[in-house]
Amino acid sequence: MKAGNDRRGYGWVARAFHWAVAALILAALGLGLYATSLPYDTAEEAARSFQVFSVHKTVGITVLLLAGLRILWALGQPRPGHLHPDRLAETLLATLVHWALYIGMVVMPLSGWLLHASAPGAFSRILWPFGQRLPGVPEDLALSEKFTAFHVTGWLVLAVLIALHVAGALKHALIDRDATLARMAGKAENLPQPPADPHRWTGWLAAAGGVLVWAFVAGFAWLAPTPPAADSTPQAMTQAAPGANGWTVTEGTLNIAVLQGTSTVSGGFGDWQAAIDYDPDTGQGRVEVTIQIASLTLGAVSDSAKGPEFLNAAAFPQAHLTAAITPPQAEGEPHLAEGELTIAGQTVPARMPFQLTIQNDQAQAQGGLTLDRRDFGVGETYGDESTVGFPVEVTFELTATRN
Ligand code: HEM
Ligand code: HEM
Repeated sequence: MKAGNDRRGYGWVARAFHWAVAALILAALGLGLYATSLPYDTAEEAARSFQVFSVHKTVGITVLLLAGLRILWALGQPRPGHLHPDRLAETLLATLVHWALYIGMVVMPLSGWLLHASAPGAFSRILWPFGQRLPGVPEDLALSEKFTAFHVTGWLVLAVLIALHVAGALKHALIDRDATLARMAGKAENLPQPPADPHRWTGWLAAAGGVLVWAFVAGFAWLAPTPPAADSTPQAMTQAAPGANGWTVTEGTLNIAVLQGTSTVSGGFGDWQAAIDYDPDTGQGRVEVTIQIASLTLGAVSDSAKGPEFLNAAAFPQAHLTAAITPPQAEGEPHLAEGELTIAGQTVPARMPFQLTIQNDQAQAQGGLTLDRRDFGVGETYGDESTVGFPVEVTFELTATRN
């Protein structure tokens, strides 16, 4: 068999590309659907889901590579002529589907890659030694959700296109009993010479139709309402400390960040109370913070973070910090809150530096500390850092007014 195509049939290069890409696309579709159907409640289940997604992504990237090569090859090749160019609608539909499939084999994996690269909490890796991010693509939840909308609408459109395409191939083989399937799948000899095509414009119309199909998907994904992004700047509940030096928190955020695989997933607690007692003259005081674990949002893994493997909100609904505030040791140094932190039923000593500015009885404070999740027995079944890192960065910012 010749490498190149001619007017009668496809050469072996086009055939090899066709069947390799077809098999890999069907595998990517199956793996994508399987991965999203998997449960995600225990450490083993999460690890399994990571694995399947990693294979899905790697197969998808392979499709992108092969599709690129295939298109470059096809650009320099003649296309076998239609066997029934007189059947206008059929020819138009078949060619439109071919165009849409060519575009689909690029934009589907590309949208997957873009959603992976822009997802702040993407943690199942593409199985390759190159980076996981893309230059120029920011980690941005809203952007990632647009690409996800494209990807999950796109696979349905791609599946319909493949169904139409396969139905067409089968119709040619079983009903028309012509050589259309044979020239992609059968012997290269004795293929019939296609008649001259009287409607050359159908090719351009079909190309425009193929582009339109994906333009609709893009428009739909762009306009589709996306679920509200995880609130990463939750409002603190206010609570006043009693006494002359009491302060009331009027707004604030309490956020955490942890490394998952290669990327950082971050989020915060929407419901926490701080009772602050602080004397600006001495720089001393006390703080008690109560955090409602159930109010945590953490990217795509909010539920598992609060589940039994990690913070276990059902058994330990609150975390507590009780600390004494001490003034800066020198000009420009931070204040310190030193005391005890209780998370998931485990109490450990905690030391948290923070910056404080006070103007007209309004205080602004920001600070944080790094915890080791193992100190609290959080994520014990994740004994190494391959899926979830040990350090957890805690940061806060608040505004408080003097009572
Ligand atoms: C030919 C290529 C591809 C096809 C046909 C495909 C197909 C699919 C399908 C059918 C799903 C399930 C969607 C759902 O349950 O609604 C999915 C999800 C997903 N795919 Fe792909 N995919 C491809 C390439 C990729 C690539 C290259 C990546 C990343 C590098 C990727 C990342 C993802 C992710 C992260 C999801 C989960 C999206 C979510 O629901 O949040 N995909 N894909
Ligand atoms: C799995 C079952 C499949 C069958 C039986 C099949 C069959 C065929 C046949 C017979 C042709 C030649 C049509 C002609 O000569 O006019 C063809 C072409 C083509 N197929 Fe498939 N196909 C399958 C899957 C796929 C898949 C999954 C894709 C890609 C997403 C795909 C993309 C294409 C494209 C783009 C062409 C046009 C090639 C060209 O003219 O440059 N096919 N297919």
